[in-house]
Amino acid sequence: MNSQTVLVTGGAGYIGSHACVELLKAGYHVVVVDNLSNSKSESLLRVQHITGKSLTFYQVDIRDKQALTEIFDKESPTTVIHFAGLKAVGESCEQPQLYYHNNVFGTLVLTEVMSNANVKQLVFSSSATVYGESTFPQYTEDFPLGAINPYGRSKAMIEDILRDLYAADKISQTNSPWKIALLRYFNPIGAHESGMIGEDPNGIPNNLMPYVAQVAIGKLPQLSVFGDDYPTRDGTGIRDYIHVVDLVKGHLNAIQALNNHCFEAGGCKAYNLGAGKGYSVLEIIKTFEQVTGKLINYKISPRRTGDLAECFANPDLALKELNWKVEKDLHDMVTDTWNWQTKNPQGYI
Ligand code: NAD
Ligand code: UFG
Repeated sequence: MNSQTVLVTGGAGYIGSHACVELLKAGYHVVVVDNLSNSKSESLLRVQHITGKSLTFYQVDIRDKQALTEIFDKESPTTVIHFAGLKAVGESCEQPQLYYHNNVFGTLVLTEVMSNANVKQLVFSSSATVYGESTFPQYTEDFPLGAINPYGRSKAMIEDILRDLYAADKISQTNSPWKIALLRYFNPIGAHESGMIGEDPNGIPNNLMPYVAQVAIGKLPQLSVFGDDYPTRDGTGIRDYIHVVDLVKGHLNAIQALNNHCFEAGGCKAYNLGAGKGYSVLEIIKTFEQVTGKLINYKISPRRTGDLAECFANPDLALKELNWKVEKDLHDMVTDTWNWQTKNPQGYI
């Protein structure tokens, strides 16, 4: 059993709540810091119900330095998983200051509090959006960065800050160097197999999977497929979808790697978390129809600005250094999404 305390920022959210389940199952003490700006505390009640274990929750904004310092003093975490952040690409274009303040300044405050408390193990939620456009659709971690919207740039800036923090330790030859895993997620979908926790988007979803689920259940009338003239096998966009439970298990493996010889002298390294293969929009629709027995009403619409034709991970480094790879397939992802959607048609209430 594990007696380490992991502090999880954004732990009430979609990915964070699934991470809390796996952390509790693995025996960690879990402390969640979330301002509930995009989540409900009900998710944490359900995390505790699923696991039969309790966690500690603080409704606090990570930009509140004093409150965060008090939490670190009281809880003495050894590691932080940092999920807290705003994530809507469109909103980030309309309100860039909000995104940079919340995501970038929030991370500055968090890392300052961590430094002061000498807690220097961090797993950070980055994103495949940090990569620049490429003619080759499969990304390795050394591919040039070049985010194209404020949300993506906020993630890229945070990655830079974290690399600089680690580099500063090397200069001052500190004996407790930063150990940081930057996890670049591809497209997380699905839900916990219990159907008790899942993705609960505000308003009309931007992302494909929750949109399809809401069409299937009759909350939305029709899906728009953004473009069928891409140079892909059926003309629609291809993405690397990854089950959220597989994704959060990658975080537990990352914590283990930070604790072992790989990171003995410190480090700040990026890892792709993806399946390594992509599915098209039409393939997602077809699988959804097969699993649910419902026809998805869709129409072909113009391309969405900023979308790539095809994008998927090369996850070899995560396998080699984190001993991690996906275990679930598209059928599992769709089945679990549908289970969550049908059990919680209004999301968390
Ligand atoms: P989410 O919105 O469900 O969860 C984020 C959580 O952070 C929410 O509970 C929110 O209330 C909280 N939060 C936001 N700002 C905060 C602040 N200043 N202080 C305290 N809490 C704050 O999103 P998610 O899908 O679970 O994403 C988690 C992380 O993963 C985010 O950083 C996101 O950018 C990143 N990510 C998500 C995806 C995706 O497709 N879901 C892809 C790549 C990366
Ligand atoms: N799509 C549609 N109709 C919709 C929504 C999406 O056809 O209503 C298509 C898109 O054009 C794309 C695919 O479905 O081809 C996936 O789109 P998503 O919006 O679900 O996902 P993206 O790949 O555009 O972006 C997501 C997150 C980003 C994150 C990125 C990589 O929204 O924040 O994955 O992790 F950075």
